[in-house]
Amino acid sequence: MTTTVFTETVYERARVILARYPEGRERSALLPLLHLVQSEEGYVSPAGVAFCAEVLGINKAQVGAVATFYTMYKRRPTGDWLVSVCTNTMCNVLGGQEVYDTLSETLGVGHDETTADGKITLEHAECLAACDYGPVLTVNYDFFDNVTPDSAVEVVEALKAGNPPTPSRAPRLCTLKEMAVQLAGFSDPRERAVGEGVAGAPTLRGVTLAQEHGISVPGFNLDTPIPRKDAGGSPVAPPKTSAPASDRKPAGDNADAQTKNLKDAK
Ligand code: FES
Repeated sequence: MTTTVFTETVYERARVILARYPEGRERSALLPLLHLVQSEEGYVSPAGVAFCAEVLGINKAQVGAVATFYTMYKRRPTGDWLVSVCTNTMCNVLGGQEVYDTLSETLGVGHDETTADGKITLEHAECLAACDYGPVLTVNYDFFDNVTPDSAVEVVEALKAGNPPTPSRAPRLCTLKEMAVQLAGFSDPRERAVGEGVAGAPTLRGVTLAQEHGISVPGFNLDTPIPRKDAGGSPVAPPKTSAPASDRKPAGDNADAQTKNLKDAK
């Protein structure tokens, strides 16, 4: 299988990725390499598998074994907008299945299927680790919290119309290919392409209850920032949070203050 669909720029990025790993342990770079090829074609094609195998000096079966294990690696062409609806336990009891069913009917596609115009791929997802905001859906891994069937339809209608809506806890949406570049470990220099929010009130509810009941854990201080590092291991300033944790607004209200581009791995 030819690998000529990948340009010298992609090979150069592959070399940058490999250089992050100790000599002799380069095969550990397979996960970001799979994101890299997905950033080019929108999925891990047979050519993408061959590319990874060639770069790492392993066989295609080894690459395929990894690529088929993780659901983030798509094995067939995927839309610009990957809409993932959590139908796991917590979201489900809050209406997640109704959200999924409504979107499936609206878009005319089922799980892991793409609309005829190639724009939107729908999937149901296991727990997306945002149960405190359930039911949730993600678009290219950015969250829309507390969705309803109606609000979820508004999201996909906006995507179809070419007006990507703003996620609940991120500055803006990126296309799936753009997101794959970031997941491969490369910065997206565009304004507001990368951002994060602080923990919102639902996430902090347990802590709030503990404070209200005078329960504490020795050595734990909510207002002490956790040390953070960038992709190169250098310290990164913590998000700006002027208010004490107990006074913080939901994350979506603070997202603008949290924008921080990753340091270019080059
Ligand atoms: S069950 Fe939906 S995010 Fe956890």
